[in-house]
Amino acid sequence: MYRTHHCNELRIGHAGESATLAGWVNTVRDQGGVIFIDIRDREGVTQCVFRAEESSEAAELSHKLRSEDVIQVTGRVDERPTVEGSSTKNDAIATGEIELVALELKVLNKAEVLPFQLDKELSNEDLRMKHRYLDLRRPRMSQNLRTRHLITKAIRDELDAHGFLEIETPVLSKSTPEGARDFLVPSRLNPGKFYALPQAPQQYKQLLMVAGVERYFQIARCFRDEDLRADRQPEFTQVDIEASFVTEEDIYSFTEGLLAKTFKAARGVDVPTPFPRIDYQEAMDVYGSDKPERRIGMEIIDLSEDFASSGFKVFSGAVAKGGKVRAINAKGFASVTTGQIKRLEELAKEAGAGGLAYIKVKDGEWKSPIVRFFSDEEKAALESKMGIEDGDLILFGCDEWRTVCEVLGRLRLEVADMTNLYEGKEDILDFFWVTEFPLLDYDAEEGKWNAVHHPFTRPMKEQEDLLADESRFGEIKAVAYDVVLNGNELGGGSLRIHEGDLQAQMFRALGIDDEEQAENFGHILGAFQYGAPPHGGIALGLDRIVMLACKEDSIREVIAFPKNNKGVDLMSGSPAEVDFKQLRELYVKSTVQDKKQETPT
Ligand code: AMO
Ligand code: AMP
Repeated sequence: MYRTHHCNELRIGHAGESATLAGWVNTVRDQGGVIFIDIRDREGVTQCVFRAEESSEAAELSHKLRSEDVIQVTGRVDERPTVEGSSTKNDAIATGEIELVALELKVLNKAEVLPFQLDKELSNEDLRMKHRYLDLRRPRMSQNLRTRHLITKAIRDELDAHGFLEIETPVLSKSTPEGARDFLVPSRLNPGKFYALPQAPQQYKQLLMVAGVERYFQIARCFRDEDLRADRQPEFTQVDIEASFVTEEDIYSFTEGLLAKTFKAARGVDVPTPFPRIDYQEAMDVYGSDKPERRIGMEIIDLSEDFASSGFKVFSGAVAKGGKVRAINAKGFASVTTGQIKRLEELAKEAGAGGLAYIKVKDGEWKSPIVRFFSDEEKAALESKMGIEDGDLILFGCDEWRTVCEVLGRLRLEVADMTNLYEGKEDILDFFWVTEFPLLDYDAEEGKWNAVHHPFTRPMKEQEDLLADESRFGEIKAVAYDVVLNGNELGGGSLRIHEGDLQAQMFRALGIDDEEQAENFGHILGAFQYGAPPHGGIALGLDRIVMLACKEDSIREVIAFPKNNKGVDLMSGSPAEVDFKQLRELYVKSTVQDKKQETPT
């Protein structure tokens, strides 16, 4: 037996008993020849005291201990004494009333000096990732892993209680359109052919509905070859759910229950349900985003009518072209620095704006080169609609609708960061649904329509006919919804098309002709001919749920072995080059050299 207790278990009630602990040397303190060691395991720490008069052998060996050595200590539990009138008890730790008086010490394994200290936050993420197994020893990280486990368990329990079956679907599978690039795996047994790693188990879960499973879920690993960010990894985990004979209301209701259980398990908080809903149009108009951060206020105000015939031609010109003039009021931010304005302007331009018009309201004066073009009525409308007060900063966007949304949506978030608007709002959990997404989106560059969610999503019942009329594609709304928490898209789903002819029509709208349909989607179109039930579902991003439950700002903090922003695992060194022989076996030839020659340096 390696141990009788873990390192966060012994209490005053154990005083006088014998105990054996095993773990890592957390700290070593030498106080005049008496060695104090805090021994740590994943549960916590316990202080061990090594005194020569108790055991000379253990005491002598203890002098050689270094941080992170793995040891086993057997001893007697003593109440911590009072020394020179003051108690040596430590309220900060749960085992602080006792100490283990060491009678026996075994060094199970020695540790070299670590590349970084475990008790300090480390900003060098590369170094953390290279030694992730050490990084994960830190309490914050080990707590995150534990929270992830609690969440996953709560999800399994809750879905099981509602009759959902956990079913695994293939990882070596066929490309399914979710909007990112596929990771491909060459097939040795089928020369020249490739599996695709799933971007989502979308088609398999629908086929399980055709198979009569009725309620499916999977904690599914998904793979997407896309640009990485704080909330995006090339492989990530979805809580993937699908059910038959359900309406979107059923899906809202069990998803809300699931998320409430999840946050109860992780943070002990009660999440009120049902969640509020806003439709896509409102989300975009008011917050400039389809996953709005609502905790920061600063709603976007439309001024298009007020400035339609303005003497300021940038505004009236935009309205004349069918665009919008909109603004946000960054309350109390007239003190914005030149550098900050420059940064805001850069962001506005990145989001597609021609520039950034703004007004600083200081000492009763509107400081801005554009104000002199405004009429008195325009100024009055601006003042009342924007609720302008001294000290405010007004930021404008004027362009076609989508650009204005994106520009002001981006500026809102940046201003919130610049002015610490999140302060004091860290504990608010603003869950809500975004509903009524458009079904299709026109890509002007490619000259074709794309599915906003994916091609299996249903149009709204009364709009199904519009799929026959390309001129009206832009009007069609989908029965699709996202669940958002504090400006993060936690998950998305939809009711699906379950009729073969409607699915074929949807594919045609996306420019997928009959031949391509048969080749790539023959299995699902075929399945729909044999009694496919009405069905729908959702997929929740598990990594994002855990990130928010742990109050982390990157999903890398809640994934045991994540990749960095270049998709590299610095610890194992993946991705790595492979032998020519291995490639030959797979009938694959690298074109790295050809590509290098193509791109002039
Ligand atoms: P969607 O593409 O919206 O829907 O994905 C669902 C959820 O998965 C999470 N997610 C990610 N998390 C981390 N890194 C990524 N690269 C990443 N990409 C997505 C997000 C997102 O909301 N098959 C559909 C679902 C359905 O219709 O049922 C789908 O995959 O939290
Ligand atoms: P101009 O008349 O081009 O000198 O622009 C006057 C002001 O309007 C400047 O502050 C510009 O940055 C701003 N501006 C120009 N185009 C836009 C736009 N599309 N959206 C918002 N502000 C703009």
